[in-house]
Amino acid sequence: MSIIIDTDPGIDDAIAILYALNHPEQDITALTTVAGNIGLSVTTRNAGRICALAQVDTPVHAGAAAPLGKEANPELGIHGTDGLGGVVFPEPLFPPASEDGVGAMAAILMAHPPQSVDLFCLGPLTNLALLLEQAPEAANRIRRVIAMGGAVDEPGNVGPKAEFNIAHDPHAAAAVFAAGLPFALIPLDATRKVRADQTYIKALRDTGAPAAIASAELINAYFAATNGAESRPLHDPCVPLLAQHPELFRLEDRKLSVDLETGALVAGEHTIKVAMGVNADGARAALLHGLSC
Ligand code: BDR
Ligand code: CA
Repeated sequence: MSIIIDTDPGIDDAIAILYALNHPEQDITALTTVAGNIGLSVTTRNAGRICALAQVDTPVHAGAAAPLGKEANPELGIHGTDGLGGVVFPEPLFPPASEDGVGAMAAILMAHPPQSVDLFCLGPLTNLALLLEQAPEAANRIRRVIAMGGAVDEPGNVGPKAEFNIAHDPHAAAAVFAAGLPFALIPLDATRKVRADQTYIKALRDTGAPAAIASAELINAYFAATNGAESRPLHDPCVPLLAQHPELFRLEDRKLSVDLETGALVAGEHTIKVAMGVNADGARAALLHGLSC
């Protein structure tokens, strides 16, 4: 299976990418970056740093520098001014590829047989919305999209009902919902249940594996940004976990739309497959195992 990871690293993006890169049966064809947790130059550099730590030569393509129709609003409080919570990572082994993120998505999709490439979306959906607009034929060749975003019955994390990835670019999310692609959304309703505590950090460190140790340091940095919390949610790792272990998630069809003002998900016209439940212990165990092998 070939996969493009679209991402705004981001602490939890980094853990998700390290986990995905650790699975040789998943061919991560490219990382495309987007402005979200932090600006595009930093998310692009971080994608390269993550590949360097994982010792892979996966190309990194810089995508959209701003959301559609609104200002960027980064999450510096959680992810730090370097986007990776100050955790030490090597510098990228290569500069970013010359082709931009949306162009790279289109080229990869057209070079592969139809319905053979998955897209993992770990940040705002800006690049996918631009692909739909600029290269609809390529977008129609996507086998499936798995995206982290939104809050359905759960409160939001950047507003009473709004979640960061959707609220950062609600116009993009609305365009993706309307496109009718094979799409699974993993909202806070599931991701907030997959939590890491100090015991989990120790288990990661104890494996001695570089990807697990780096993940332990990233989660530790997450704690530093949230005084007093006993555990932290592992949002973005749920995306590759759903791909690898679908049995751990309960998907439901929900009729949803995006409120363009607030970025909240509201009852609406698009039938979306949404992960409303997760076997959290199973997900934590699978992540630990995947990061340490
Ligand atoms: C999402 O927002 C970002 O801060 C995280 O990386 C994750 O993708 C969680 O709401
Ligand atoms: Ca993210």
